Amino acid sequence: MVTAKIQPATHRDWKCEFEIDPDNVFLNHASFGPVTRRGRMAAESLIKRWGHLTPGLDVDDETFAMLASAKARFARLIGAKDDRIGFAPNTSYGLNAVLWGLGLTKGERILLPQIEFPALVYAVKNIAKKLDLKIEPLPCPKGFLEIETLEKALSQTSAVLAISYVQYFNGYRYDLKTITDLCHAKGCFVLVDAIQGVGSVPLEAEQIGIDALACGAQKWLFGQTGAGFFYISSRPIRAVEPLESGWLSVDWGYRFEDLKEWNKPGFEDGRRWETGTYPFFSIRFAETGLAVLEECGKQQVWAIIQSLLDQLISDLEGTQYRVAFERGPDHRSGILALTGPRIRELYEHLKAHKIHTSFREGTIRVSPHFHNTVEEIARLVERIRQFEGNE
Ligand SMILES: Cc1ncc(COP(=O)(O)O)c(C=O)c1O
Repeated sequence: MVTAKIQPATHRDWKCEFEIDPDNVFLNHASFGPVTRRGRMAAESLIKRWGHLTPGLDVDDETFAMLASAKARFARLIGAKDDRIGFAPNTSYGLNAVLWGLGLTKGERILLPQIEFPALVYAVKNIAKKLDLKIEPLPCPKGFLEIETLEKALSQTSAVLAISYVQYFNGYRYDLKTITDLCHAKGCFVLVDAIQGVGSVPLEAEQIGIDALACGAQKWLFGQTGAGFFYISSRPIRAVEPLESGWLSVDWGYRFEDLKEWNKPGFEDGRRWETGTYPFFSIRFAETGLAVLEECGKQQVWAIIQSLLDQLISDLEGTQYRVAFERGPDHRSGILALTGPRIRELYEHLKAHKIHTSFREGTIRVSPHFHNTVEEIARLVERIRQFEGNE
């Protein structure tokens, strides 16, 4: 169970790390993360240095050191070692890299919950079609995959379970430890789309034993687009080999003066999956976002998010609006879906008043982060009450 209490000593005002117009209440991190002040400054400085060609600028030294730092931060965030991490432009790339690296053969089964974000769905459908695999859709009548359903599915030999850590619209967080233990007992590989959990809810990937995960940095990690990562365990239940290779998958010792060598040794770590020149700007953004998150600390981030959502639930009492999907404390996340009368109109009303949420599958998705404040949650509820009053 993930439990955490806000530590008053470290509960500082994180707003100063952002430059969000104070008129706005941004509660939409499940869609995208705002640029941090540090991210903006880092990008500006990078543009300036590369534009002016500042004397002494050594692009290779600077950028590769920055890549290593970003990778270490990704690793710490998910409780893994940096050598198990590869950069990926988005979640989908990482999911595909792992799926294609598994050497699946005709007739093997992939388990896929029937309620899933399309990133997994389309990646699985594509590989299944091309390799003649069997997709086993797992029913989710309650909006999530129940353990009994998984157990039943695992009674037949299954190669992979493909599942999200946190459901994108109802915020259901899976107990990945229980799921992984069950799957491993039957030799089934666990591949996780982690983008809606990592950065808001703590995850210890290595400890839990999940085989692989993929995560973009554009949402809860304040990384903007183009910089994500994937993780592959050092002891996966089934080997994963890169399907692609490129000149940066092999070790040049970061010295690029003699490139005629055709027999360079390949990297042994996550760089084996990395093929060509990196999106330095995007990764720099991600690195700054991750730095801010790390300063707060993942337990503290989670504690703040939970307390904000607790406040929201309690302040909504007496209104016609309520949590759309009830779940126990072990399955909570940074996403809370709201339902009630004229819900779409309420969403538009909030938007018109600069309260940023998103509308997903007929509900309003609220997704605060650690920089949000009790006052902002109060403003959201005030607008909801105002909307009700105008009925
Ligand atoms: C669960 C989940 N997976 C993946 C994505 C995005 O995938 P990608 O990073 O490949 O664009 C989203 C949202 O955009 C999501 O909610």
